Amino acid sequence: MTERCFFIYIFNFIGYIGELIPSVSVMLPLKEKDRPIIQKLLSAGCCARCILRFCCVSVHAAYRQPQQNTLKELKVFISNTDNSESQRSAAPDSTEAKDESHDAAESDPPSKRAKLEPSETEGAAASAASSAAAVEAKDEASRVCVVCLGILQGLCDSSQAVKIAEAVKAGSYEFDTLVLSVSLPAQLCVREHSCWLHVKKEVREKGLVLDKDDVVQVKEAFKWIMQGLVAKELGGVAVVTKSAFEVGVEFTHPETDADCHFLASACPDCFKPTKSKQSVFTRMAVVKALEKISDARFLKHYPCPPVQPTSSCISQDVQCLHVSVFVAGRYNKFCRSLPQTPWVIDGERRMESSVEELIAAPVLSAFRADGFNFSSSGREDVDVRTLGNGRPFAMELLNPHKSRLSRAEMKQLQETINKSSDKIRVRDLQIVTREAMSRMKEGEEEKTKSYTALVWTQKPIQREDIAFIDDIKDLTLDQKTPLRVLHRRALAVRQRVIHSMNARFLDSHHFYLGLKTQAGTYIKEFVHGDFGRTKPNLCQLLKTDTDILELDVESVDVDWPPAIPE
Ligand SMILES: *[C@@H]1O[C@H](CO)[C@@H](O)[C@H](O)[C@H]1NC(C)=O
Ligand SMILES: *[C@@H]1O[C@H](CO)[C@@H](O)[C@H](O)[C@H]1NC(C)=O
Ligand SMILES: [Zn+2]
Repeated sequence: MTERCFFIYIFNFIGYIGELIPSVSVMLPLKEKDRPIIQKLLSAGCCARCILRFCCVSVHAAYRQPQQNTLKELKVFISNTDNSESQRSAAPDSTEAKDESHDAAESDPPSKRAKLEPSETEGAAASAASSAAAVEAKDEASRVCVVCLGILQGLCDSSQAVKIAEAVKAGSYEFDTLVLSVSLPAQLCVREHSCWLHVKKEVREKGLVLDKDDVVQVKEAFKWIMQGLVAKELGGVAVVTKSAFEVGVEFTHPETDADCHFLASACPDCFKPTKSKQSVFTRMAVVKALEKISDARFLKHYPCPPVQPTSSCISQDVQCLHVSVFVAGRYNKFCRSLPQTPWVIDGERRMESSVEELIAAPVLSAFRADGFNFSSSGREDVDVRTLGNGRPFAMELLNPHKSRLSRAEMKQLQETINKSSDKIRVRDLQIVTREAMSRMKEGEEEKTKSYTALVWTQKPIQREDIAFIDDIKDLTLDQKTPLRVLHRRALAVRQRVIHSMNARFLDSHHFYLGLKTQAGTYIKEFVHGDFGRTKPNLCQLLKTDTDILELDVESVDVDWPPAIPE
């Protein structure tokens, strides 16, 4: 808002001379233009804090004080207006009410007023009035607010803060800061809109500048009140606006769930069913529909102001969520009967374990995470070993309760994985960023990989028969999608390059073939030819049938993640 904000003492002067009853708590930063809004919303059944919201009060302390106090102050504020306005109209030189510069605070400096003592009789009258008001205020305060449905009333106090703090403690998370998030029932937007229309008329008539976006959101006010309380309950933890650790409070209000339903006919496009959501009436969809619907149409279907609810919102279980941590490293696989990921066919497990499970179990328990997502730079077949420096992998740890590990702890974790089985080992284990993880996947096809294959030949061979293999450089293959992967990969012809090869004679029917290839080359198919689907192939080069008996990955030349010196 651009206009000047006038701070008005809510205990204004009574009578022309005026007298100052010192404000009991917070000085509400209310303006002349707020008076009609306060009046309308009070009688509509809005709670004191919602009224502050509609008056665009952004002073956090104003929301934090007890709502009964605020309510009392609002009432005094509007009743004093009547007084000062009648005084003004009696005075010949009084300016019009719409002249906002003419307010009590300016017309009389506080220092002057402070010196004046209230007279005996006026003081007594004031205290009698205030005790009567207190009874009334108590009654009104117990009514559920028509806009916030109780959220800014009984649902944001120290007992709510205790509930939130208990949930955080129960999760035993390690964190430095936390961010509070609030999920409100979607129908709250409908009520907010109705209330806005209720005051809008007034606002427009008086030519006051007030936009719907200037109204303080329930969420904001809730946080202003709760952040400090939660921080205190957690022993001074910083409750901030951005943090890796999110504590979510959710409110529902079954009584008014149907409030949104009329919007579906007003804006059918806004409410498209999705698989993931239980209800089409999401907050986003409701907000969109409210932007589209005309005021007249809205008012035809929905009461303005909203009707009084009988119950408050229900606060659901507090949800704690830490953003994912990403861990990367390299793994060796020394076993020819271990798939990389759980191998399940027709709902039945084929192998008791997998690389990802063997790595994940200790990692999950070290970070106390709820789940993981594993990825690697390529993958090997179940019967292929991965030797050398290993294959780069990375995993996303979901909702880790611990998000940092010291160097020593990381080494310990690595050792735990190494010792847990003789099928795999890991090295270079480290925490990485989500962005860094993409380095592993990018340019994967351009990287080279080295293999050793144990080859069988049908025709007997001599050492000299395979010597020519060492001289072959940059051999381009046309590989039709292998038969064995056709069920999951599209049929295509892919060109791959074998950069170099070497042969090591074993016996008259066996030799070791070393290959340095472009990533993505199908080695098994190059050796046996895959019924001529890979051309050229080793059978053609040796002019005999050849088959592959064993395959090892010797190196995956991806320079990520960085090596960790031991
Ligand atoms: C796992 O990763 C994939 C690909 O990055 C992503 O689409 C998926 O949502 C992730 N799963 C979870 C549970 O985060
Ligand atoms: C785990 O095994 C790998 C591969 O053999 C090795 O490089 C690493 O140093 C081992 N780490 C620990 C902590 O045992
Ligand atoms: Zn309210």
